[in-house]
Amino acid sequence: MKVKILTIVILTLFIVSCSSSDNDPEPEAILGCTDPNSNNYTASATQDDSSCEYGTAKNLEIPEIFSNLLLPPLIPSNNPQTIEGIALGRQLFYEKKLSGDGTQACASCHFAEFSFVDPDRFSTGITGAVGTRNSMPIYNLAWNFENKYFWDGRALGIEGQALGPVENPIEMNNTWPNAVATLQDTPNYPDLFAQAFGTTTITKELITKAIAQFERTIISGNSRFDQYLLGDNGALTVSEINGFNVFMDEDRGDCFHCHGSESNPLWTDNIFHNNGLDTSFEDLGLGMVTGDPLDNGKFKSPSLRNLAYTAPYMHDGRFETLEEVINHYSEGLVYSETIDPLMKNIAQGGAQLTEADKTDLKVFLLSLSEPGFTTNPDFQDPN
Ligand code: HEC
Ligand code: HEC
Repeated sequence: MKVKILTIVILTLFIVSCSSSDNDPEPEAILGCTDPNSNNYTASATQDDSSCEYGTAKNLEIPEIFSNLLLPPLIPSNNPQTIEGIALGRQLFYEKKLSGDGTQACASCHFAEFSFVDPDRFSTGITGAVGTRNSMPIYNLAWNFENKYFWDGRALGIEGQALGPVENPIEMNNTWPNAVATLQDTPNYPDLFAQAFGTTTITKELITKAIAQFERTIISGNSRFDQYLLGDNGALTVSEINGFNVFMDEDRGDCFHCHGSESNPLWTDNIFHNNGLDTSFEDLGLGMVTGDPLDNGKFKSPSLRNLAYTAPYMHDGRFETLEEVINHYSEGLVYSETIDPLMKNIAQGGAQLTEADKTDLKVFLLSLSEPGFTTNPDFQDPN
């Protein structure tokens, strides 16, 4: 009996001592940024949690009309705007080395002087292949709260969008490994990436982050119509004001449901509609992305800012002038199964606007274009 008790006591002591040594407090990992070269180095951190920030923070310059009426811009927490990141992104936007044969940059189809569209109906890629859609303008992307890009919304996020063109065979026709390797071997780029992102190792993710930072700075919010809304009654002519009334009038233009209004200064809803262009669809638009036949023939409503610079119009650039666009809505609408219910005068082809209303609608639309936007020195080729 005594022996038994002793054995239990010894065993218990053994177990307790063993387990107590197991319980010795492991030094707990302190998460944080462990890079001494970053802005937010935490000396006590023992494990990096990829929160290091580099560069000099730079807020977007938000137009007054946007801060009055819109939510703050969408900026992903893992890609804050910095002076160095924006400068690098601008360099990359104009960088032909991103393309397979070094001849084409983003800017080859997105020209600052045309509010970042291509004045050609269809852009030509490096192999000479021609696309089937009109290039899209780039501005106010940080307020696209839907965050879906392209005419059919197939790309999510601005960073995500920028992954596409480099490998698209009818655009820059490169591979990402090749584009990355080319930049890695180009003097200055590794340093520029280090300044913006704290590493000389270039990746496609960092390239698209920088491009997205630059794109977010491309903001247009100072047209004559904006000045009018901000209280400058003399900023518009009588004809332009009447045009705005046509735009807002449910019995005439009735454009505002999809294209913004005095309370939505983006002049788009950034969502997808069939606006009565075709009876059947060669290009399925949103339907191609979702696979849902109810989405066939739907495309993203474009913003109506800067139309003075962005002809031709529609996803396939079918209309060369605003007169043609207005005639389409006035008497050219055609029926198809997915037609938007807002195209309510479809039975007679449209709202049948008077010639005077058409003229006024056109001059109103043009009052949404911002003089000086296309020549803003911050958006031009830095070289
Ligand atoms: C060969 C011409 C071409 C090149 C090069 C090109 N784009 Fe585009 N871009 C287009 C066309 C055409 C569209 C519309 C395509 C679609 O909807 O399928 C488009 C759409 C976009 C959009 C969508 C805008 C929106 O509101 O949805 C963005 C942003 C954009 N391009 C940025 C870029 C960037 C960044 C690069 C360089 C990495 C680039 N593009 C290179 C032709 C081009
Ligand atoms: C039901 C929503 C809806 C309504 C209402 C609507 N639009 Fe549109 N609009 C669109 C869509 C969607 C597109 C792009 C269609 C495409 O390319 O296939 C578009 C394209 C345009 C474009 C071409 C812009 C460009 O950059 O290519 C202009 C200009 C335009 N609309 C003006 C108007 C005017 C003016 C009215 C009123 C008379 C109007 N829209 C009513 C949805 C609408």
